[in-house]
Amino acid sequence: MLVLGLETSCDETAAAVVEDGRRALSDVVSTQVDIHRRWGGVVPELASRNHIVQVLPVVHEALTRANKTLDDVDLIAVTSGPGLIGALLVGVQVAKGLSLATGKPFVGANHLEGHLLAIRLLEVAPEPPFLGLVVSGGHTSLYEVQAYGQYRLVGSTRDDAAGEAYDKTARILGLPYPGGQPIDQLAQQGNPEAIRFPRALPGDNFDVSFSGLKTAVLHHVQKHGVPQGQALADLCASFQEAVADVLSKKLVAAARRLGHKQLVLCGGVAANSRLRALCQARAEERGLNMFLPPVRLCTDNGAMIAVAGYEAYRRGLRGDFRLAADPAWRM
Ligand SMILES: Nc1ncnc2c1ncn2[C@@H]1O[C@H](COP(=O)(O)OP(=O)(O)OP(=O)(O)O)[C@@H](O)[C@H]1O
Ligand SMILES: [Mg+2]
Repeated sequence: MLVLGLETSCDETAAAVVEDGRRALSDVVSTQVDIHRRWGGVVPELASRNHIVQVLPVVHEALTRANKTLDDVDLIAVTSGPGLIGALLVGVQVAKGLSLATGKPFVGANHLEGHLLAIRLLEVAPEPPFLGLVVSGGHTSLYEVQAYGQYRLVGSTRDDAAGEAYDKTARILGLPYPGGQPIDQLAQQGNPEAIRFPRALPGDNFDVSFSGLKTAVLHHVQKHGVPQGQALADLCASFQEAVADVLSKKLVAAARRLGHKQLVLCGGVAANSRLRALCQARAEERGLNMFLPPVRLCTDNGAMIAVAGYEAYRRGLRGDFRLAADPAWRM
């Protein structure tokens, strides 16, 4: 079954052609990051307008690279939530239009389910049950994937998402938006033990919190000024260590308590070098199997939406023309 996956929930316009929910024949991502950078974050109205400009060329490119036409496609899958309402609407309306024009079925896919199931595009992928940690710009949520379509939220952030903490910290340090990659790069030249930032491990549960860490960075900068050179790299490394330490600890603790052997890290922050290394090391120490998607599958893409849509379709879900974008869709 050939699925065209469409993603416009935030600031990436993306489309992909995926076979049987496992093999990506193409995966095209057009990012708007240069448009939003000067504002220090995503401007929803600009995002919607740029999706309108990009969406059809991106779909065309995805079909061309897969060497397919719309006639070959069996299902159109589109992110219908969660995300920015105006941005989601562009994708949903395009999916409806393509479905109407071709007579092909369409289905609304959950963006977070997409992040969780992106791992299926790897040659060696876990089958449920597994424990999946979504760490992205808008979410830090730990799910038990009991079966496809059966997800239990077992922990989440009490305040900022991990990506949000990166982006806000980058802003404090005068680094470009989005902050994840620049901080990650600087951190690799720094000493993670230079500054002991707080680790918030609230209570005996699987929740995390990052607002205290962000405030600690702010206080440090207020006291010492914005660091430069090696001091900047040291601060980035210390911040990154705190984030990776907390997330990897909670993930491994949850695996032990809930009896999971297979762990998945996903979402934009799963691209982080230290988080990947620490999760891998702590999982190995305890004999757990850690699955890490390649970096291009961590950030938003159409292939993961094709996988989530494929699974939703197999569960019997069908889109109809009343399908609405749901900016706060809880899985
Ligand atoms: N190497 C990295 N280290 C840490 N964070 C990173 C890295 N690369 C990207 N990020 C962060 O990932 C986030 C973007 O991820 P993603 O595209 O999954 O988020 P989103 O789609 O905006 O949010 P959501 O999936 O919650 O709706 C940004 O906050 C960015 O700073
Ligand atoms: Mg995302």
